[in-house]
Amino acid sequence: MRPVAAASIFLVLAFLMALKYMISEYLRRIRGKNSDSTFTTLTIDEFLDGIEREKPIRFSAEQLILATGNFASLLGTGGFGAVYKGMFSDGTPVAVKVLHGSSDKKIEEQFMAEVGTIGRVHHFNLVRLYGFCFERNMRALVYEYMSNGSLDRFLFHDNKIIGFEKLCEIAVGTAKGLAYLHEECQQRIVHYDIKPGNILLDEKFFPKVADFGLAKLCNRDNTHITMTGGRGTPGYAAPELWMPYAITHKCDVYSFGMLLFEIIGRRRNLDTNLPEKDREVAERFMKAALWCVQSRPESRPLMSTVVKMLEGSMEIPSPLNPFPNLFEQTTGPEPPSHFLSNSSIFESTTVTGSKVEHSTPVMTKYEIHMATT
Ligand SMILES: Nc1ncnc2c1ncn2[C@@H]1O[C@H](COP(=O)(O)OP(=O)(O)OP(=O)(O)O)[C@@H](O)[C@H]1O
Ligand SMILES: [Mg+2]
Repeated sequence: MRPVAAASIFLVLAFLMALKYMISEYLRRIRGKNSDSTFTTLTIDEFLDGIEREKPIRFSAEQLILATGNFASLLGTGGFGAVYKGMFSDGTPVAVKVLHGSSDKKIEEQFMAEVGTIGRVHHFNLVRLYGFCFERNMRALVYEYMSNGSLDRFLFHDNKIIGFEKLCEIAVGTAKGLAYLHEECQQRIVHYDIKPGNILLDEKFFPKVADFGLAKLCNRDNTHITMTGGRGTPGYAAPELWMPYAITHKCDVYSFGMLLFEIIGRRRNLDTNLPEKDREVAERFMKAALWCVQSRPESRPLMSTVVKMLEGSMEIPSPLNPFPNLFEQTTGPEPPSHFLSNSSIFESTTVTGSKVEHSTPVMTKYEIHMATT
């Protein structure tokens, strides 16, 4: 074979092989692309679906009127408005909270931004926000319905059908919901109003925290403390809400602590229905009680002193922590020995944590003597 012919055959073969490679590569890519694209489309669809479901839905006032049978079934009222039971056409039960105040167009964007944030927060121990309504005559929030209502119904009233173990689960669930809001949300959410009324229970008494994000969304009315713009509910609100201290997520921790006391004691720490004059008496009695239950006998007052405390004929100094045995690590150094051996808090010295304070002139005035052991 001549060299020219051999070279031509070689070139044709090389060309054919290159062509074959290109065609197979093209086919492989097409097939690959097709199978990839099917996969991608499916995942994106699912993803978008998921996002869609997680987005709060906007309802019209008419739809909410229909769903609630013209707001026929009132579940309760609170600082933000009234809550009604409703049901959507697919059978989903809902709780519709109709908010006080007008729907000023200027706040629509801010309202939707806040609702958008709350509506995307999902956790087992947080009540789900399905959607909202923002119309001239109605501002409302549509929540997942919790068939057993709020914890206060079971904690303070006669129907003590929740046992101790379940109560402990409720406390833990509430703590988990709050931990999520504080520590796991992209943007920390401070609740500002943790109390038994905002812990809702489903049909199995599984707890979910309600109303998170609402403090930012609405201005509270005067059923709640308003001192210097304070928030929260008396008996649960942390002191920094009305005192000049920085307000952080720790105010929820304080309220949760108060809630824990109530869960364990199954009674309210503070009865807000007491008239003002009775409240003063209650506070005086509580202070007297805290003095009586001091763990150190020498710190407890004489009964004649207790009588004066209860009758209001003496000013009661701030009680010491009566349970230092529970808080060994936080009580600071031991009180000075001279205090323990022969002195009386109502005579000369008081100990607050690690601080030693001198008695008030009132104690001296009333010649109050401390019990000695
Ligand atoms: N999602 C819900 N499912 C079932 N019942 C609910 C729901 N949300 C609220 N409720 C009922 O409505 C009552 C009133 O709720 P609302 O949140 O308006 O008042 P509150 O919790 O007592 O006070 P606050 O305004 O400080 O939250 C609750 O105590 C509860 O019984
Ligand atoms: Mg509430």
